[in-house]
Amino acid sequence: MSHPQAKSITTVFKKVIIALSGLGLVGFVVVHLLGNLTLLRSDGSAFNAYAAKLEGLGGLLAVAEVGLLFVFLTHIGSTLTTKKRNLSARPVAYRQWKSKGGDTPSNSSSRNMAISGSLILIFLILHIWQFRFGPGMSQGYVATQGQEQIRDLYRLVVETLKNPLMAAFYSLVMVLLGLHLRHGIWSALQSLGLTRPRTLKPLRLAGAVIGVVLGVGFLMIPAWIYFGVSN
Ligand code: HEM
Repeated sequence: MSHPQAKSITTVFKKVIIALSGLGLVGFVVVHLLGNLTLLRSDGSAFNAYAAKLEGLGGLLAVAEVGLLFVFLTHIGSTLTTKKRNLSARPVAYRQWKSKGGDTPSNSSSRNMAISGSLILIFLILHIWQFRFGPGMSQGYVATQGQEQIRDLYRLVVETLKNPLMAAFYSLVMVLLGLHLRHGIWSALQSLGLTRPRTLKPLRLAGAVIGVVLGVGFLMIPAWIYFGVSN
């Protein structure tokens, strides 16, 4: 059996890992959104050119993808093992903290984080299968860029998001992503010890603004394609 103090040191360490990996993923999400905003140009050439440029990075892209996968797995793995540890340390919730609504604010926000995080994970598995490993040039998704033939990823994204079920699912996940980031960014800053009583409110607001901007930014894409793009 391990010493309780060793357990709490491990928990603090894991919280720092969750925070750092989470902030790293926020960086990816910002870059991904900026690239995807080219989808709002309706002829698709800007987006296809951007995707072809990424593809052209070859080995460098493969290294970035492996790095990203590692950060995702670290974030998910540390979250799951911290949750398990918390549950085994305190199988019964503290009664005295229960509000009239029957739940503590921290319980409800961590439960919401678990729900939004799980749905984002399900989304990611479907998303990468649909787009990263979806049909390419050999299946007829071909666009021309000057003299060159490149993958018509724009057509694939439009076909996918013109499906009402997909447009609705993507929109739901983008809202959940915004909420996950709104709480997650602020919580990460706290785990890293960056909040002080004086900075608590401004940092909480900053986390909320970043979460909302990213959520709304991503939400614009399925909405624009579903309602605005003719196929
Ligand atoms: C409307 C929203 C989104 C659209 C239209 C979109 C579009 C795409 C496309 C087209 C690709 C394939 C890129 C390629 O194969 O070159 C891709 C890959 C990917 N997307 Fe998204 N995405 C969206 C939201 C998100 C969100 C919110 C996340 C993360 C939370 C995400 C994570 C990823 C990841 C991890 C990859 C694989 C990257 C790689 O392997 O290079 N996407 N996305």
